[in-house]
Amino acid sequence: MSLDIQKIRNDFPILDQQVHGKPLAYLDNAATTQKPRQVIDAVNDVYTKYNSNIHRGVHHLSNVCTQAFEDARVKVQKFINAEHSHEVIFTRGTTESVNLIAHSFGDVFLKEGDEVIVSQLEHHSNIVPWQMLEQRKGISLNVIPINDKGELMLEELDEMFTEKTKLVALAHISNALGTINPIKTIIDKCHQRDIPVMIDGAQAVQHVSVDVQALDCDFYVFSGHKLYGPTGIGILYGKEKWLDQMTPYQGGGEMIQTVSFEGTTFNELPFKFEAGTPDYSGAIGLAAAIDYVTHIGVDNIAAYEHELLVYGTDKLETIPQMNIYGTAAEKASVISFLVGNIHPYDMGMMLDKMGIAVRTGHHCAQPLMQRYNIPGTVRASFAVYNTREEIDRLVEGILKVSQLFG
Ligand code: ALA
Repeated sequence: MSLDIQKIRNDFPILDQQVHGKPLAYLDNAATTQKPRQVIDAVNDVYTKYNSNIHRGVHHLSNVCTQAFEDARVKVQKFINAEHSHEVIFTRGTTESVNLIAHSFGDVFLKEGDEVIVSQLEHHSNIVPWQMLEQRKGISLNVIPINDKGELMLEELDEMFTEKTKLVALAHISNALGTINPIKTIIDKCHQRDIPVMIDGAQAVQHVSVDVQALDCDFYVFSGHKLYGPTGIGILYGKEKWLDQMTPYQGGGEMIQTVSFEGTTFNELPFKFEAGTPDYSGAIGLAAAIDYVTHIGVDNIAAYEHELLVYGTDKLETIPQMNIYGTAAEKASVISFLVGNIHPYDMGMMLDKMGIAVRTGHHCAQPLMQRYNIPGTVRASFAVYNTREEIDRLVEGILKVSQLFG
């Protein structure tokens, strides 16, 4: 199916603006996507029509708001095909979801000497929480290396498993390189050894269809704001069998059953993990974002973004001294690059003057940058509203900067 990109662009009010006197070309979608009017309206409706704290009131507005929040949970459940809606926990985002798992799974299932496996292409959010657990509990972290193309060296993984391996925590898609990891193969390998798997889907749910039951992953986490939804809302999916046994992450609010000074009992799933007033407007906005992408079709989005990736890669490769980092066979719509010895910040700042927004730096993946022995890259990342014309402008912009730097 061919998408009407101009019609899609019209849904995103922010795209229609000039930056430094030039039309905005927003190519920083791996950092955050822009929001369609449908999402902005859904959040606006909460505050103009039915804002009220949820799960607490007997009054009309509270009931309407609670219903919308719980409907949002079911929307997420169906979007990722979770078996139960109570396996869907609302968090602040991917980072909080990983921290929750490190804390609460770590509390119950990890002890001194145990091992967690991550990979060399992880975002800091899937490294640092485990390092904190190294400090706190004496676990150790093992790292799956990557090859020059930015693909996991799976043959090394086979050698890394020991009887102390208690969890494998991996990105579905690399934020810095775009590599799509073969997570189903990895999950199956791990499950043959009864090792649970957590997948960081922050860069994936907006690009590929995710079915957590078909994957059979134990945990799958992602953020709303990279899926055309609001900031401050994220998802932790976990299999009931794990979530039930895990300890709460934060105390207070909705996560209790009874409280007394003699002792407190905790609420059932999912509320056990949702202390305090949840970000219900964020959850409701996320549900609108899911409706939005579902209406276009995640597979249609993926196919169109792949066209952009191929078009962009072909064009960028014609630029003299172009080095593209991340050339995996399976890639999402991310192109990370350096041109000659032009510093990524210089390239990014000069592209900005031409109205082109890209991200520069280490992309919160410093160990990955160390692997390539570079300080960082320039990263262009495409979403469904991007166009070939914007990529042409990127290429022209890079050529101009290259000429300026001789
Ligand atoms: N994690 C986001 C990125 O990769 C912010 O840009």
